[in-house]
Amino acid sequence: MRAKIIGTGSYAPETILTNQELEKRIDTSHAWIVERTGVYARHIVAKDEATSDLAVKAGERALKSAGIAPDDLDLIIVGTTTPDMLFPSTACLVQHRLMATSAAAFDLSAACSGFVYALSVGEQFILSGKSKTALIIGADVMSRFVDWTDRTTAVLFGDGAGAVVLASTSGTSGIVSTHLHAEGALWNLIAIPGGGSANPPSEKMLIEKCNTIKMKGSETFKSAVRTLEEVARETLQSNQLAPSDIAYVVPHQANIRIIKAVAERLGIEMDRVVVNLDQYGNTSAASIPLALDEAVRDGRIAEGKIILLLAFGSGLTWGSTLIRW
Ligand code: UT7
Repeated sequence: MRAKIIGTGSYAPETILTNQELEKRIDTSHAWIVERTGVYARHIVAKDEATSDLAVKAGERALKSAGIAPDDLDLIIVGTTTPDMLFPSTACLVQHRLMATSAAAFDLSAACSGFVYALSVGEQFILSGKSKTALIIGADVMSRFVDWTDRTTAVLFGDGAGAVVLASTSGTSGIVSTHLHAEGALWNLIAIPGGGSANPPSEKMLIEKCNTIKMKGSETFKSAVRTLEEVARETLQSNQLAPSDIAYVVPHQANIRIIKAVAERLGIEMDRVVVNLDQYGNTSAASIPLALDEAVRDGRIAEGKIILLLAFGSGLTWGSTLIRW
């Protein structure tokens, strides 16, 4: 038995923030952003939109493409580190809005690796027989946690959500293997250090902008390239596959230079790598399911193809999912 993705969906907010608009706000340039990151534009939530709103829309689209009614869901996991509030979980808000009243619901916190972590947990629920149909969502509203005066992070991030419906299958298609890793010693390479129990909201915390993303860019970059290559090799080796067997890699969309470096080290040409960060920036847990949904809808990802999802994020966390579509 395997857990199989039977539907995908995604949603990004309507408002688009271009590099040209950012040039007017901070000391940066379109040329620098494109050369160093590959990002041209990102989507930004409206004032009255939050993570659950994006997650619900992506979830509805995934359910529609799977032909599943919300009533049939028995599990909802939302990978997010920008929940609507500290509690209840964003997954419970999504459960209510979808009217998926039979579903257990919880959030999973693994930053940009949140979707791949959540997919692996969802797979275990399906394989154990505990769940029959699960909705796995990656959703983040990074724009609420960016310091818009810090050019080293403000140009990178965007908002979005992506979702898949998982069900059990007795065929050969579905999730073949998942591989998850973490290195907590490197927690401070990228973090939002304030707002939790260690540094709760206070005037000092807000003045120091500890409620926004603090990142050591160059060290994070090197860790991303190293860990993504390692986990890709581990996945190929444990399934006795060669890079040439992979039809498409769907990597976390943090920086085009990270993606190109990993692809080059693995010997995978860029036309077998799904990239959409030019239009979305880094949408954290949403980045992989957003790109996956795009490639499913345009027909690149189709039945029988071998797909490799590669995630990396704060924690540090990283992981992979190998899928026979
Ligand atoms: O989602 C997972 C976590 N995130 C990531 O994986 C992101 C990983 N890191 C990165 O993508 C890259 O490190 C960045 C895009 C953040 C930075 O690129 P970089 O090539 O590592 O640049 P840098 O930090 O070494 O900075 C080079 C120069 C600096 O100027 P000086 O010191 O050489 O004069 C920066 O101040 O570029 C400057 N700079 C900028 N200039 C124009 C930094 N940000 C900007 C900017 N516009 N937005």
